[in-house]
Amino acid sequence: MRRKYVAGNWKMNLTLTEARSLIEGITAGLPADPPIDLAVFPPFVYLAPLAAKLVGGAIRLGAQNCYCEPKGAFTGEVSPAMLIDIGCRSVIIGHSERRHVIGERDELLKRKVLAALGAGLEVIYCVGEKLDEREAGQTEAVLDRQIHEVLGPDVALDAVTIAYEPVWAIGTGRTATPDQAQQAHAYIRQEIGKLYNSNVAARLRIQYGGSVKASNARELMQKPDVDGALVGGASLKADEFLGIIQGAMKAQADDA
Ligand code: PGA
Repeated sequence: MRRKYVAGNWKMNLTLTEARSLIEGITAGLPADPPIDLAVFPPFVYLAPLAAKLVGGAIRLGAQNCYCEPKGAFTGEVSPAMLIDIGCRSVIIGHSERRHVIGERDELLKRKVLAALGAGLEVIYCVGEKLDEREAGQTEAVLDRQIHEVLGPDVALDAVTIAYEPVWAIGTGRTATPDQAQQAHAYIRQEIGKLYNSNVAARLRIQYGGSVKASNARELMQKPDVDGALVGGASLKADEFLGIIQGAMKAQADDA
């Protein structure tokens, strides 16, 4: 059975004081030894201040991005080794805002995935179609491209989680239905099976992301191929994020 994995992507939000109290609120509401995996992805500048509270605890600390080189003349960038150095274990690569707002392409994303894994980080690799692509019946073709251009036999998947995040559902309040999520997740797992093998595909965790909230978390994660959630807006409020964690724990108990 795959262990559910809930991650909060804070994006470019919060002050340091707010970030600290969010972590306190989440930590205070967690059970002693949560039966699922948890992570938060604060902005770069809050990683070091929050690391002291989080390192060694139930919530792993991750970054929202990193660069694909270990060091050097890359003004404004942060290397995977720097993230490890301050206590990060994880990094998000290929988030739709990096792809569509900042303009990152698959070729760069592949280099980032390889660099992050090489440095010892766990990677959440995001894929997902835009609304016009879904409406044109191109969802599977887009997922295919995002999987095949970035993953493959040269990328070990042991430390990779895929996040399926349909762009039309991100920050819009319009969540994919559990059936829509399941259909895309099953397709991703099938493609990973072809690209690697059925054991790798069976072990891979696939999170759903896009307007996940406490009220829909359990229903989404009850689907057989939905192994967790990557949460944006709802991860900024301790009560709401804790509600999602509760939903994931219930969905995991439903699986057992
Ligand atoms: P959202 O964002 O939960 O606010 O829709 C999800 C994400 O972008 O990871």
